[in-house]
Amino acid sequence: MMNEFAKKATQKISKMSSSQIEQLFNNIVGENESLYSVIESLTLGLVICSNDWKILMSNRASERLIPFKNRYFEEKTQDNLLSDEIWNFIDDDDIGIFLKNASNDKKINVSQEFVLRTSGGTVRFLNISIEPLVHQKQISGNIIKIEDITEKRNTETVIRRMENLSSLTNLAASVAHEIKNPLGSISIYIQLLQKAIKKSRDTDGMLPDQKFLENYLDIVNQEIDRLNKIIVDFLFAVRPIQAELLPVDASAMLKTFADFYRPEFEMKNIDLDINLYQNPPKLLLDEKLFKQVIINLMQNSIAAMSDGGKISIHSYIKDDLFYIKVSDTGSGMDEETRQRIFEPYFTTKANGTGLGLTMVYKIIKEFGGEIEVESELGKGTSFIISLPIPQDRKNLLE
Ligand SMILES: Nc1ncnc2c1ncn2[C@@H]1O[C@H](COP(=O)(O)OP(=O)(O)OP(=O)(O)O)[C@@H](O)[C@H]1O
Ligand SMILES: [Mg+2]
Repeated sequence: MMNEFAKKATQKISKMSSSQIEQLFNNIVGENESLYSVIESLTLGLVICSNDWKILMSNRASERLIPFKNRYFEEKTQDNLLSDEIWNFIDDDDIGIFLKNASNDKKINVSQEFVLRTSGGTVRFLNISIEPLVHQKQISGNIIKIEDITEKRNTETVIRRMENLSSLTNLAASVAHEIKNPLGSISIYIQLLQKAIKKSRDTDGMLPDQKFLENYLDIVNQEIDRLNKIIVDFLFAVRPIQAELLPVDASAMLKTFADFYRPEFEMKNIDLDINLYQNPPKLLLDEKLFKQVIINLMQNSIAAMSDGGKISIHSYIKDDLFYIKVSDTGSGMDEETRQRIFEPYFTTKANGTGLGLTMVYKIIKEFGGEIEVESELGKGTSFIISLPIPQDRKNLLE
């Protein structure tokens, strides 16, 4: 990186006059300063460590992005080499462990995503990668790059939401269909009323029988109520979900949930069989919404098992995905029902809204996951949810 002049000059240092050496030195200092100011002005966080993981240099962005302990700032101002390995100066366990592991494993080129919660409550996503610092074909240290990927993450969420919205066309079609019936009957009863009023005016000028009028108006009112409910439900279905994704142990959440509902299941004569993946990698989920998903699935399963039965909750990892399988030994569904269950308003229940599974679907999509259903009439139903595991240390060389 040193400029060509300086490079050549250093090779001939023994033949140089003292003023030439002074010029060379000034030159190198100038180079060094301009390089330093470039590094300082980067938005990418950069920390350079020696082979034994002591910090040699860190730029301003790195201090803004990762939480350093006070100790770091104290030692840094003394202008010495920092006394300890880098992880001892970082005030975040996950990042510390990541760096420490990288040093133990002697792996080069690793990266991982992190979620940081600032004291103000905002959530930031970072990608931290480690690369070898190569100097004269030798590895002389480590370069740690810290990138703020919050915006990128948010854009991904927006795109996911837009994909969801494309199913809004379907939703609008089903609302239009729902609205048709009450509108049709309102129109019929108003016509009947008009006819009756006209008839009585043409004859004795008296209003039609009061009973008759009231009955018709009651029906019109009921239909208006029905319309109102359809609209309210529709707004509920299209409202974007406010998901706050934070790292959670999904198995632990399922366990807490199962324990909480166990008495209710016992009362309803339902056996609960849970088989959970222990200490899974943390997933990015919104706890409240996740709970809502499980509650909806449970309610459907309970409704499908009026004579009791068994609900199994199973979590496992396959192909880099975290799976949750919820099965019941209930009524099952025929193929036509199975294909329509996620449609808004689709219900086979007298007082169902048909929005339970629509909500479940929306939430799982918001988590970046998928949901599938297997069902056999008379035997039972399984919902299989797959959720992404936030990308872990991946080898960039691979
Ligand atoms: N575990 C299950 N076993 C059998 N059928 C199911 C099961 N889960 C869902 N279904 C079918 O899917 C339909 C849609 O379910 P969804 O949860 O969306 O609405 P709902 O349960 O009918 O109404 P709500 O959730 O408002 O009570 C149900 O009416 C039922 O026919
Ligand atoms: Mg339901």
